[in-house]
Amino acid sequence: MTEPTVVNHHADHEGFSGPIGLVAAVGMLLTGRGNARFAAELASVSATDRLVDIGCGPGNAARAAADRGARVVGVDPSPLMLRLARRATRDHPNVSWSQGTAEALPVPDGWATVVWSLKTVHHWKDVTAGLAELRRALAPAGRLLVLERRVRPAATGLASHGWTEQQAESFASRCRAAGFGDVRRDEHRRGRGSVWAVQAVRPEHAAQ
Ligand SMILES: C[S@@+](CC[C@H](N)C(=O)[O-])C[C@H]1O[C@@H](n2cnc3c(N)ncnc32)[C@H](O)[C@@H]1O
Repeated sequence: MTEPTVVNHHADHEGFSGPIGLVAAVGMLLTGRGNARFAAELASVSATDRLVDIGCGPGNAARAAADRGARVVGVDPSPLMLRLARRATRDHPNVSWSQGTAEALPVPDGWATVVWSLKTVHHWKDVTAGLAELRRALAPAGRLLVLERRVRPAATGLASHGWTEQQAESFASRCRAAGFGDVRRDEHRRGRGSVWAVQAVRPEHAAQ
């Protein structure tokens, strides 16, 4: 049984390539637009932002941010996801796509004013390394947003892809331990379920 506070309990999921990955990607593409717009509102994305979408999948959230004028880099380890993201985007001048992971982001130190990761942290290989990398990529006062579906503690299989309240709280604590400030965890009703939003800010001073 998964430890109740382990936040990357699906780090070994293999469903992001091949025919299963394609079905999953098309499903995300068709159903994820509302969540993408919700993230852009929650993070107050504007034309002054430079944003990294970590685990961008087929790219809905990256496009939602780019539509608000932000410069966006969509990052995903899966070539299949990136292919679909490129096709669905055509020539949006504000977005580029790059292969990478939360643990190794293809952006310079302090490049981003916003980093977000939607329904993806539960797949990260190494949460400590990922949080250190997000902090490196963020400019001082840059914003972090993580969304995860709320799941029941007893859920199994696909129904467990998300976080229980304990897992959401555990991730918020890990953000504090990684040096983020103003960490908050909120639950938001979305359709028939709800999502956890963990938001935080990179402190202004590098030494903090
Ligand atoms: C459930 S999908 C979510 C996709 C997208 N964020 C959305 O909300 O539609 C999870 C994504 O995380 C990516 N992923 C898996 N491990 C990752 C890691 N260590 N770092 C970044 N992304 C990862 C997968 O390739 C997949 O595209």
